[in-house]
Amino acid sequence: MVDLTTRYMGLSLKNPIIIASSGLTGNVESIKKLEANGAGAVVLKSIFEEEIIMEYDHMMNKMDQFESDYEYFDYYDYKIKEENVSKYLQLIKDAKAAVSIPVIASINCVSSHEWTYFAKKIEEAGADAIELNAFILPSDPERSSAENEKVYFDIVNTIKKEVKIPVAMKMSYYFSNLAQMIKKLSETELKGIVLFNRFYSPDFDIEELKVISSHIFSTQSDQVMPLRWISIMAEKVSCDLAATTGIHKGEDVIKMLLAGAKAVQVASTIYQNGAEYIQTMLKEIEEWMERHNYLNIDQFRAKLSQAKNENGAHYERVQFMRYFGEKESTL
Ligand SMILES: Cc1cc2nc3c(=O)[nH]c(=O)nc-3n(C[C@H](O)[C@H](O)[C@H](O)COP(=O)(O)O)c2cc1C
Repeated sequence: MVDLTTRYMGLSLKNPIIIASSGLTGNVESIKKLEANGAGAVVLKSIFEEEIIMEYDHMMNKMDQFESDYEYFDYYDYKIKEENVSKYLQLIKDAKAAVSIPVIASINCVSSHEWTYFAKKIEEAGADAIELNAFILPSDPERSSAENEKVYFDIVNTIKKEVKIPVAMKMSYYFSNLAQMIKKLSETELKGIVLFNRFYSPDFDIEELKVISSHIFSTQSDQVMPLRWISIMAEKVSCDLAATTGIHKGEDVIKMLLAGAKAVQVASTIYQNGAEYIQTMLKEIEEWMERHNYLNIDQFRAKLSQAKNENGAHYERVQFMRYFGEKESTL
């Protein structure tokens, strides 16, 4: 029998498969089913910064601004209800009472402002950790990258004044110096960084000539981004890394562990294949470990990270020149 346990952010996980923040983790019945099928931990569906602010009635005069900012965010099922905040705390309490795997709360945020005291309430409700889904789309040409980046550090510093439980940040790759941003964030009080979040992206209906939502679920090929960047950063960061986006099968989990991840977060494959599919993924990992004579994950974690690989250039190659140089391109 192989040992699938891993430690992520100081939490003990029975295996590295975490169910990512999504509708899958928005109610206790689903969470119980995910645990029963083998999930190592769950990240609860996110609560939004503006929901918290609204509940406490601190910034009612700014609601117009929020509404226009979030006009297209139906990806996140954006429904403001005043009772959402107390419901969220209840979800944490109920989930903690119902399952024994770690329950990580999630906050979707774009600033370090009035909402941050809410982290303390999340801690008091019993969450094992908090994941910050922090994202500013760098779409404003008048705003410098330094201004945007400062917000992420401000958020971490403010939250860490409120709570003692571990905090992770799920981030995007929209940074001008991604490696430095990941490294610097890892040197804050964050215990984990999750690479990379996947966002709602607008698409066009060319018959109706309107903007629509599509590509809600990832595909396996989307995993190339976390795979490259976890491989490059694994031995350079001061906190744990978790992988998310495009992890659909057991083999994908193995790749992320070989790159150096402590855990992975999955959503799309569970939406598409059901909670039972966690068992299939775990079986694939176990069989692979047995085939390779690995007894535990630490024996192969980060074995294919850039730092441990003789040819580090492989990880930084971005052009197809050699591929097309060597192969005939006739159709
Ligand atoms: C339907 C859906 C809802 C999601 N809701 C959230 C959310 O509330 N908060 C969040 O941080 N990420 C959310 N995500 C992103 C997932 O947590 C995950 O990071 C992303 O989908 C990449 O994993 P995947 O490729 O396995 O889907 C959502 C994803 C999907 C597909």
